[in-house]
Amino acid sequence: MATNISFFGFVLSFYLSVAIASDHSPLQDFCVADPKSQVVVNGLACKDPKTVEDNDFSFGGLHLEGNTSNPIGSSVTPVTVFQLPGLNTLGISLVRIDYAPSGVNPPHTHPRASEVLTLLEGSLEVGFVTSSPENRHITKVLQKGDVFVFPIGLVHYQRNVGSGNAVAIAALSSQNPGVVIIASSVFGSRPSIVNDILVKAFHVDKGIVNYLHSIF
Ligand SMILES: *[C@@H]1O[C@H](CO)[C@@H](O)[C@H](O)[C@H]1NC(C)=O
Repeated sequence: MATNISFFGFVLSFYLSVAIASDHSPLQDFCVADPKSQVVVNGLACKDPKTVEDNDFSFGGLHLEGNTSNPIGSSVTPVTVFQLPGLNTLGISLVRIDYAPSGVNPPHTHPRASEVLTLLEGSLEVGFVTSSPENRHITKVLQKGDVFVFPIGLVHYQRNVGSGNAVAIAALSSQNPGVVIIASSVFGSRPSIVNDILVKAFHVDKGIVNYLHSIF
């Protein structure tokens, strides 16, 4: 019996550690992504290490302002494995985020990464919501130089509350963090989620659901 219980504990802790793991650790010095490879793997296939060069580990252009002339007033410039092939298998990436005055990075989650954000310029309201059933809202206004962490998987957002532009750099614990934008996932899927499901989920009438479908 004691053996069974400890075995059960082992199995449980194994599955828990798998469930909360972020990207796997590398099994060699590096595995620079080969965008031309036809091999399908979890991640991207490696270039021949002998052909790897300095530019494979470099990205230029993060000093450039993103274009925030859009309805939400923000812009994300990604530096993931797709822009910087040397990130393949390393479990990290980053983004630059620009915000016009009152610009918003709308509620979203990253299925594969925690995010640590550093505010370089401006004043930024940030927040995330803990999982159900608690749904506790943790929010704070950041000033230049402040750092804030968004735990993996939780819905989070940012809003520029200063009078000028705001700029942040955020690091993420995956080479390919992914993004699920709540509004466009729920109301902008193709094909659409059946109206009745959204009517009941959001406690609104059909007209509102139709309207939201039409704009996302
Ligand atoms: C910014 O985006 C807007 C809307 O897409 C576009 O009209 C404008 O030309 C862009 N500005 C720059 C500097 O690229």
